[in-house]
Amino acid sequence: MTALLWTGEEMARAMEARPIHEPPAAVSGISIDSRTLKPGDAFFAIKGDRFDGHDYATAAAAAGASVLVVSEARLPALGRMTVPIMVVDEVLLGLARLGIAARERTKGQIIAVTGSAGKTTTKEALRLVLAASGKVHASAASFNNHWGVPLTLARMPADTDFGVFEIGMNHPGEIEPLVKLVRPHIAIITLIAAAHLGFFKDLDEIAHAKAEIFSGVVKGGHALLNRDDARYKLLHKLAGQAGVSHIHGFGAHDRAEVRLLNAKYLDDASLVTAKVFDEEVTARIGVPGRHMVQNALAVLGAAKLAGADMGKACEALSTLQAEKGRGQRHRLKVGGGVFTLIDESYNANPTSMESALDLLASAPLGDGGRRIAVLGDMLELGDHSRELHMKLAGPVRASGIDRLFLAGVEIKVLADAVVNEMDCEYEETADGLAGRLIASARPGDVFMVKSSNGIGFSRIVKAFLDKYPHAEA
Ligand SMILES: Nc1ncnc2c1ncn2[C@@H]1O[C@H](COP(=O)(O)OP(=O)(O)OP(=O)(O)O)[C@@H](O)[C@H]1O
Ligand SMILES: [Mg+2]
Repeated sequence: MTALLWTGEEMARAMEARPIHEPPAAVSGISIDSRTLKPGDAFFAIKGDRFDGHDYATAAAAAGASVLVVSEARLPALGRMTVPIMVVDEVLLGLARLGIAARERTKGQIIAVTGSAGKTTTKEALRLVLAASGKVHASAASFNNHWGVPLTLARMPADTDFGVFEIGMNHPGEIEPLVKLVRPHIAIITLIAAAHLGFFKDLDEIAHAKAEIFSGVVKGGHALLNRDDARYKLLHKLAGQAGVSHIHGFGAHDRAEVRLLNAKYLDDASLVTAKVFDEEVTARIGVPGRHMVQNALAVLGAAKLAGADMGKACEALSTLQAEKGRGQRHRLKVGGGVFTLIDESYNANPTSMESALDLLASAPLGDGGRRIAVLGDMLELGDHSRELHMKLAGPVRASGIDRLFLAGVEIKVLADAVVNEMDCEYEETADGLAGRLIASARPGDVFMVKSSNGIGFSRIVKAFLDKYPHAEA
């Protein structure tokens, strides 16, 4: 028997839909992609930038969709179908209405995460930590936008104890309508940094846009803010103005409510002691790096506010693993030895570049090994791009690396800035760089590969993995 997410009747009612044929007794999941649809899922024919789901309605039906949700305007073009259909004015609106119904029926604690970096990392850590105390429902991947958030809500089972939602934005005004669907008990802002700065005047404007998350916090709810962030005071003020009842800080700052008391940064983990409100806890965080400690403080604070078992939460943190493209480490065999590849290819902005260079600086080398940074463009920085790429010279110098590989158009200024002081190779494209870079691996080396996703550095990572076999643990 498949799990019941919605009855067809509940769905039709929530979406104000017009059913054609008898609605299905049970819908087991929500899909927007006919290729990954599982039998029993409802298929929502969403229109994206490149595709319109209505063109895949037949494929969805063939894959076993229990019902198709389509728009009135596109219905005539679909022709005769035997599968149940629900017709709505606009499919995305229908999905949002179903999301609202999911939120209304839940008795669980709802947590929303936004910020310039670390949203997915924090969301995944929350998923892991809260699972020790109850049934967790959390966003898939980085489903944090105008369709990802309603989709995640609509997928939330009725018996969820903890719902964890990533909310993102590229422009002002995008978070508010999403957080009003989610209505979190707890809103986390990981940090404010120059991500997508091209769409903003300055960091204050980014802070204002992130602060939209406060507008959806339920009455009596909580905001958890990074106490060490330069915009803490601004965010605190904006949270207060939005009527958030409880505003807390996490960080090393001595006034933080979730406060780091002691941290030991190891090669493969961190050991921390923290005061989480009135409770002192110790935890091993299974992924290294100062930024992971910051994320973990937010996670512990939210876990406590959500009523989770703190002992189990701390235990779970030790099993945390880095995600693909976000710090995942590979130990690969080369010439009778082993080298390390740190995969940070998923995204990059000035703050996350710095934290990744920090990771590289503290990564253990093997005998004769070198620290090698492979950096690419940070995208969407607009007029600030040149200056922010140039400024990477500081953290690059501080990281004590032995070799630097650079690729991308924007990062050329960094190559020009440091070429005379370190071993640096530059190419315009990732593919142009890949050959020599990959052939250069020697036993003991540590490579850290980081850029915005669009630069194609995930292909560099793949080429490394294709060429060199994994070493046994
Ligand atoms: N607290 C942090 N401070 C600085 N950098 C961080 C922090 N947490 C994670 N990072 C860095 O940011 C990168 C991206 O992390 P993550 O995918 O969690 O961000 P995100 O906010 O979900 O991004 P996106 O907007 O693309 O969804 C990581 O690989 C890591 O380098
Ligand atoms: Mg994300």
